[in-house]
Amino acid sequence: MSSKKFTVRWGILATGGIAKCFTKDLLVNPETRGIDSIVHTVVAAASSSSKSRAEQFLKELDAPSSAKAYGSYADFVKDPNIDAVYVATPHSHHFQNVMLCLEAGKNILCEKAFTVNAAQAKLLVKKAKEKVSWLCHIRRTSSLSLMHNLRRTYSLWRPYGPATSHSQYMCAI
Ligand SMILES: NC(=O)c1ccc[n+]([C@@H]2O[C@H](COP(=O)([O-])OP(=O)(O)OC[C@H]3O[C@@H](n4cnc5c(N)ncnc54)[C@H](OP(=O)(O)O)[C@@H]3O)[C@@H](O)[C@H]2O)c1
Repeated sequence: MSSKKFTVRWGILATGGIAKCFTKDLLVNPETRGIDSIVHTVVAAASSSSKSRAEQFLKELDAPSSAKAYGSYADFVKDPNIDAVYVATPHSHHFQNVMLCLEAGKNILCEKAFTVNAAQAKLLVKKAKEKVSWLCHIRRTSSLSLMHNLRRTYSLWRPYGPATSHSQYMCAI
């Protein structure tokens, strides 16, 4: 088997509370949770408020020094080095932000709640099928009936693997 690791080059859209939390976790070496085939790196971050806010975000999270800061989401999505975008704006803005990224051909991991209604979600899925390889959203595993059953069966409530806050979540779609 090849020892070459697959690298995902992430762009972070928005610099609020959960974006900080997620990015911190993202930059933890996957080998610490037994994954040795993939590496995550952050190549860019964007703030709708100012470029300096994005710069501060990257600095605070100890992102690679080559990571680029953007003061506009529209400029950010044009960055050819970004493979996938993590969307961490309020859910009222997910439709417009995710659509912007999909139009630019970026794979997406979007925070919960995915959209404000089913019609928006359908449009995004349709666009994703035309333009990208994957569109995921974050969902609390604690709200899935499977997790309730597991907890009941094993009297267990612990995140998977080493404790990072996002290890409690999973992607859907
Ligand atoms: N998975 C989880 O455990 C979890 C936990 C908390 C929240 N969330 C979800 O994550 C999303 C963000 O939550 P958060 O707690 O990170 O919120 P937050 O701290 O308020 O951050 C949201 C960020 O979105 C950007 N933004 C763009 N347009 C905005 C607007 N019109 N109003 C406010 N902010 C705007 C801002 O960043 P810039 O200025 O950099 O553009 C802002 O810092 C929500 O969808 C929430 O449901 C998920």
